[in-house]
Amino acid sequence: MTAIDYQGATAESIKHHYDVSNDFFALWLDTDLTYTCALWDEGDTLESAQKRKLDYLIDGARAAGARRVLDVGCGWGSLLERLVRTHGVQQAVGLTLSDSQAERLRELALERTEVRVENWLDHEPAERYDAIISIGAFEHFARTGLSRAERVAAYREFFERCRAWLPKGGRIALQTNIKGNNVQMDKQTVRDLLFIVDTIFPESEIPALSEVLESSEKRFDVVHLRNDPDHYSRTCQEWFDRLRANRDQAVKVAGEENVANYERYLSSTVGHFRNRHLGLSRIVLEAV
Ligand SMILES: C[S@@+](CC[C@H](N)C(=O)[O-])C[C@H]1O[C@@H](n2cnc3c(N)ncnc32)[C@H](O)[C@@H]1O
Repeated sequence: MTAIDYQGATAESIKHHYDVSNDFFALWLDTDLTYTCALWDEGDTLESAQKRKLDYLIDGARAAGARRVLDVGCGWGSLLERLVRTHGVQQAVGLTLSDSQAERLRELALERTEVRVENWLDHEPAERYDAIISIGAFEHFARTGLSRAERVAAYREFFERCRAWLPKGGRIALQTNIKGNNVQMDKQTVRDLLFIVDTIFPESEIPALSEVLESSEKRFDVVHLRNDPDHYSRTCQEWFDRLRANRDQAVKVAGEENVANYERYLSSTVGHFRNRHLGLSRIVLEAV
């Protein structure tokens, strides 16, 4: 029995985005196919900045050496790989709604890892987890057009589940885009963001930071919170440059229209983060 109906993006719209083609994403993401904001430091390549981000969140969740860790929205598996191959996690479980991502993960055949094509709302773990990490999936947990109260209720359901899957003191490390509610948008920015919602990420809506915090209240304490918009601006610029450099091949695997749409999405997103119309939260929460 579920307490509420799922209010997030449907599996169909998630597949619309992530199932374009694994070969397409491999042309412009880093070699481990991490598809979220990196954590940059001096001298980093995209590859090392992505690993720094994974380690930051693993450390925040106190997941290193843990018995069981859940990755909600595991993508193509870079975090799962890092958990079992670098950080000695005994069992990693990844949830995704994308068949292509699960297929690539099956090919990787990671040891001590279970990958499930399953919505977190349907997840019923046989045992509790020691830590939960979710990177860039929260943006899909409330669909476009809900009221603030409905979004908060949808997010609260997620945090209720996570709380039930963790012991007291267990941690979630959550990374999510947030709305940059403090800066007025111009018309072009509004048009670009509508294009992204219509064409690239149908049915998804980015949360306000206050909604994330409100919905986790009474279940989790905030341990750390940082906002890194410039890190996402730089990540999108890297992705855009790599896509441009591999444009001919990208058109072959995904078609001209898809490539042009992604160029518009990535190049405008560089500006959305730089201009603070979007933010990037990395939040560590501890179960009370
Ligand atoms: C932007 S990708 C991020 C993937 C990965 N965490 C990374 O950093 O590369 C978002 C992921 O969330 C997953 N996702 C979205 N909604 C979900 C849901 N309700 N339940 C499980 N996974 C979901 C998608 O299938 C996808 O794997």
